[in-house]
Amino acid sequence: MRDECYYNDYDRKDNLHFDSKVVHGALGCDPMTGSLSFPIFQTATFKHREFDVGTGFYYSRLQNPTRQELERTMAILEEGSEAFAFTSGQAANMSVFGMLKGGDHVILSDDLYGGTYRIAEDIFRSLGIDFEYVDMSDIENLEAAMRDCTRMVFLETPTNPMMRVSDIRKVAEVAHRYNAVFVVDNTFLTPYFQRPIPLGADIVVHSGTKYICGHNDVIAGIVVIKDETYSDHFRLQLKSRGNGLGPMDSWLLIRGLKTLSLRMEKHDANAKIVAEWLRKHPKVKKVYYAGFEDHKGYAISKSQSTGFGGMISFELDSMESVRKLLSDVKMVLFAESLGGTETLVTYPLTQTHESIPADIREQLGINERFIRISIGIEDVRDIIADLEQALA
Ligand SMILES: Cc1ncc(COP(=O)(O)O)c(C=O)c1O
Repeated sequence: MRDECYYNDYDRKDNLHFDSKVVHGALGCDPMTGSLSFPIFQTATFKHREFDVGTGFYYSRLQNPTRQELERTMAILEEGSEAFAFTSGQAANMSVFGMLKGGDHVILSDDLYGGTYRIAEDIFRSLGIDFEYVDMSDIENLEAAMRDCTRMVFLETPTNPMMRVSDIRKVAEVAHRYNAVFVVDNTFLTPYFQRPIPLGADIVVHSGTKYICGHNDVIAGIVVIKDETYSDHFRLQLKSRGNGLGPMDSWLLIRGLKTLSLRMEKHDANAKIVAEWLRKHPKVKKVYYAGFEDHKGYAISKSQSTGFGGMISFELDSMESVRKLLSDVKMVLFAESLGGTETLVTYPLTQTHESIPADIREQLGINERFIRISIGIEDVRDIIADLEQALA
């Protein structure tokens, strides 16, 4: 079949700076009508032009022009070759883990999103895959854990929720020495602050639900690959599992991305102020924030990221303070997620990290007094005033 289509060719605009790339995307405008807002192709299927002439689009489970625009934009932003948009971050991770087979050994961050742990333990372990959880902020731990059958290294940096930082370049070097695929979950920092592919990662995953969307109104996931090696695998996942992001949600992410740079700057600036304030609060015992100069990973962060993002975790002095904070916040919202315009407080013990076994949680420091906060883009004075009254 020959394809004749306005949407096939595009200029990657690699010459533009990042802040311009987020605004202008891949095609940017609609090449057919000139519409500045990329169209939402709300269709299941596409009419062929004639017997052996198509448009390049056949059925929206395989590809849809709106999803394609989002995917191309994400590939540009992460400096990868191709991207794939899924119905959730979990769906994206399921597809990444779909590369594994029985007998493979996989190393994951020992501190990571509970849902990723659940995919590994409750779905893939039964296929005979061996998962090992390692604190990769000390590269020696990774060196010691690698085996000849290690097929994948899956890293969160900073980790969720303990904000540990690992050296992406060094992890890439170790993983590749063993021919393992190196995957980085870049949800917390986004390509605005950190681009793992030029630093050595083979694959980047995102919960697109978070900063990429940015407005707490879509569930989405993104995979970006370094080169065409894994292209067929992810195309097959989308085609066979049928978990590609719908056109409306893809459009919301394209729209959200346009302000990524502005939002990330504000999240970052607000978080710095809130982290310092929390540190001085008498009811706060410990603050986990990668932007503190005395954070163990501070120098590594400076070497591979241009900011620290909007995520902070902290431990309160008592259960009473926890109950009061989570019940009494007013503008700040007690809800499970992160990366949106609104400041959210989350209780990892029963929310995001419920799937992690109690002993591992305890070892990491995710105890009953532990809170995670995603700093939004509100006026920071209001965030602090609200936390102040809720902790009083
Ligand atoms: C770091 C990280 N990765 C992946 C996910 C899963 O993404 P989703 O909720 O979009 O399925 C989350 C969700 O909180 C997350 O925080």
